[in-house]
Amino acid sequence: MRGTPQGRTAYAEADVLKDDILQLPQVRATLNLEEPVALSLVALLHFVPDASDPYGLVRGLLDGLAPGSYLVLSHATEGFAREDLRELGEMYQRKGIDGKLRSRTEVARFFDGLDLLDPGVVVGHRWRPDEEPRLPDAEVGFYVGVGRRP
Ligand SMILES: C[S@@+](CC[C@H](N)C(=O)[O-])C[C@H]1O[C@@H](n2cnc3c(N)ncnc32)[C@H](O)[C@@H]1O
Repeated sequence: MRGTPQGRTAYAEADVLKDDILQLPQVRATLNLEEPVALSLVALLHFVPDASDPYGLVRGLLDGLAPGSYLVLSHATEGFAREDLRELGEMYQRKGIDGKLRSRTEVARFFDGLDLLDPGVVVGHRWRPDEEPRLPDAEVGFYVGVGRRP
């Protein structure tokens, strides 16, 4: 990905559990954090176990953003009791990669204190679809949401 006259792009290799990603030089040189931005945590937070305080992590990141900024996230869920997702989680654990599938209520908690955009926290293919979703929700197995920092 490269920057264009319409907008700049930068890449930073970082660990959200160890690095203060908003302070990275690549981020500071690219984004003006005095202005609203979008923070996308897409398919990331299920790699953050409860012991690493995922809610505190998201809160800390949002605290560094201007009012009017957006949080976009998607998160794999245990909500549909999918055996393959459970097995995938166990495989990650065996390889030393921690994480947690979360329920809809647990995913919705990431938006506490934000103005949640319609239609709220829903299975991914139900967030403003262009056409009526055809897959069963269980096959998607992810919740998504978008919130705005007041
Ligand atoms: C399923 S991929 C999603 C990638 C991308 N967001 C997307 O939706 O196409 C999960 C990503 O989370 C990243 N990830 C997992 N734990 C992380 C951590 N502690 N810090 C930063 N990135 C992490 C992985 O490197 C991987 O790129």
